[in-house]
Amino acid sequence: MGVVENSKLTVVGAGSVGASLAYAALIRGSASEVALYDIAAAKVEAEVLDLAHGTQFTDARVSGGDDLAVVEGSHVVVVTAGAKQAPGQTRLELAETNARILERVLPSLLERAPDAVFVLVTNPVDVLTVVARQITGLPANRVFGSGTVLDTSRLRWLLARRAGVTTSSVHADIVGEHGDTEFPLWSNARIGPVPILDWRGGDPFTLAELDEIAHEVRNAAYTVIRGKGATNSAIGLAGARIVEAVLDDEHAVLPVSTVLSGLHGIDGVALSVPSLVGGDGAFPLEGVPFSPDEEALLRASAGAIRASLETLGR
Ligand code: LAC
Repeated sequence: MGVVENSKLTVVGAGSVGASLAYAALIRGSASEVALYDIAAAKVEAEVLDLAHGTQFTDARVSGGDDLAVVEGSHVVVVTAGAKQAPGQTRLELAETNARILERVLPSLLERAPDAVFVLVTNPVDVLTVVARQITGLPANRVFGSGTVLDTSRLRWLLARRAGVTTSSVHADIVGEHGDTEFPLWSNARIGPVPILDWRGGDPFTLAELDEIAHEVRNAAYTVIRGKGATNSAIGLAGARIVEAVLDDEHAVLPVSTVLSGLHGIDGVALSVPSLVGGDGAFPLEGVPFSPDEEALLRASAGAIRASLETLGR
């Protein structure tokens, strides 16, 4: 889809994730203007300059800096600012540090972009989506998290490679926490119209193999962080994809993280389930079939997020 005219994305945080997301949005034409904001002036100015130098080859313009005026007029604000996982560190262990950053930065972002849709990427993204909703007072659809969009992309890549099909023909989602309690919604997983366990386009999938693939997805970030110190490319692309769904008012079904109000009996906790993403933000879909085991796994995910919120006193 072409660039939506007069659409502005601001990425908050010029670290590796923020810079990658801005870069991905430029290349994909996710917005007609991509702005990058950070309090670290030298860093953000260098990142903006480095992006701007390539805009001859893109359809979007770039702006940015350490002045909050950068954020004005944004239709979508993506928050990537915060500490990142050290090797072996869980996402939940970042909660306290990054919640404090949100408390500092969100009120002024909302003041400068009062009509924007806010997308959290900073980890632990589900916990921080609840915190961001509390801080901003926005309705749940207008402040949501990138959730398991990235994990779902990892799952689809692994399944496609194993089945010998193109990734876009794999329909399978990771749901729940973007973290150690995430799980594949196998009961809905298909390759084309074929349920995953009925696949005969090659060697059939075994349950043990599906467990191994789920394990590889759940541990993917740890693997990448061990090798290169951070993840940034795929989350940048996942973030740009989410931005497009909002700016193009796509009404796309994506597994983003929203604060649930009773869905599957879960209340006040943000988790990823298949959701409708468009110009008004994200709305979790009702009627997605979960097996009893999957319902139990979702409740376990909710428990992990709730425990982290309780340690924050939220
Ligand atoms: C990852 C980070 C974005 O899963 O949580 O790569």
